[in-house]
Amino acid sequence: MCRFLRFSCIAAILAISLAPLAHSLEKQPAAAYRARRVALAAKLHGGAAVLFAAQEAQLDFMPYRQDADFYYLTGWNEPGAALLIVADADQPQTTQAPAPRRYTEILFLPTRDLRMEKYTGAKLDAASPGVAQAAGVDAMQPMTELPAVLNRLMDADRRLAHNVWAQPDSPQAKALLEFTAATLGVSAPTASRDVTGMTAQLRVVKDAGEIELLKKAADASIRAQRVMMKAVKPGVTERTLAGKMTAAWLEGGCERASYAPIVGSGINSTTLHYSENTRTLEDGDILLVDAACEYSMYASDITRTVPVNGHFTPRQREIYNIVLGAQQAAIDAFVAGKSKINDRDRKDPDSLDNAAYNYINTHGNDLHGQPLGQYWLHGLGHMMGIDVHDPADYPAMLKPGMVFTIEPGVYIPEEKLGVRIECDFLVGADGKLIDLDAALPHTAEDVEAAMRDK
Ligand code: GLY
Ligand code: MN
Repeated sequence: MCRFLRFSCIAAILAISLAPLAHSLEKQPAAAYRARRVALAAKLHGGAAVLFAAQEAQLDFMPYRQDADFYYLTGWNEPGAALLIVADADQPQTTQAPAPRRYTEILFLPTRDLRMEKYTGAKLDAASPGVAQAAGVDAMQPMTELPAVLNRLMDADRRLAHNVWAQPDSPQAKALLEFTAATLGVSAPTASRDVTGMTAQLRVVKDAGEIELLKKAADASIRAQRVMMKAVKPGVTERTLAGKMTAAWLEGGCERASYAPIVGSGINSTTLHYSENTRTLEDGDILLVDAACEYSMYASDITRTVPVNGHFTPRQREIYNIVLGAQQAAIDAFVAGKSKINDRDRKDPDSLDNAAYNYINTHGNDLHGQPLGQYWLHGLGHMMGIDVHDPADYPAMLKPGMVFTIEPGVYIPEEKLGVRIECDFLVGADGKLIDLDAALPHTAEDVEAAMRDK
């Protein structure tokens, strides 16, 4: 066999064996995920963390989405895996002292289910060619080894019996920890320390790679909102608009909506999370469209409110301008490291919710001459990242690297008039706010112009 032929054969075998590695998601470099695992280890008080991947969807045709924390720490997008992180630990001052431990990370991959793979596609296991490079984790092992590895760890250092951090709602974690406790004869509960509180602290500040993915999600969502603005007219159904936006997201390389699209016309604009999308648009209606997509697991969250016939009525324009003014009041009040978001009680003087609420409550009136504050029912915004509502302790202080929404609204059922304007903001390294949705019309006049631009 000539050398060239041998090379081609090897290349072909490699191509076939690596085929399942072709990820549709844009991943960050392996070093970014490893840095997050090391950062998590530093929070474990010398303990260990075990996190499980999301299981394959139970309902037919429901697409798979990885557990957000698991994805954040690994970039791994297959079901059934587990990640073990063991923190550095010094030797304790006891007579039967275990040896000091060094940082360890192991990705455990499940045994392949060849029958299920006929339905949902090929998966990788710990022995698949190229899997170590695809995972970028220090060590890989078959999932069957996880109980034994944890058992050995705990047996060598019984302090771990009270220092294993896991996802609180994971039945796999519960079973694993109970089994390990039973095999070691440990009477106390071995764990159920909640790891998600720690991952939340890490996830709230985005790194440069995450910000790029969030910008791509925002850009695709902006394009879809523009498609919507051009398609809106009397006689079109809410669902048709949701469909056109979905097509634009998928064309833009996004995998799915970040949440069920809210396309509410007329009275439906006053239902905060309306998602039936069954009504037909009528001349003179207002239309609230809270719909956006996620790109490679990172979310966008945008709301625009438009007039169905292309022209706001004077009353619709008045309310629109009040909501836009409230958003601007929050932006003007923003100070990095001081301002907070999502203060439902509006008691914290540093909350941007206060600034927006005061604006709404001192501008305009309802049909009975009452102020409009009573018609704003939700928090001003939320953190955003792998989840459209990323975890955070609210009211949350806003610092560089954080990404969050500012989304004031006024919803007056009596007038069949709901207006929400929602944009996604990044706190830049210099502490200034960056509007990720700056390319989308904000003012009533710019919305009308975008609708004319058929
Ligand atoms: N965009 C919907 C929400 O944030 O609840
Ligand atoms: Mn939102």
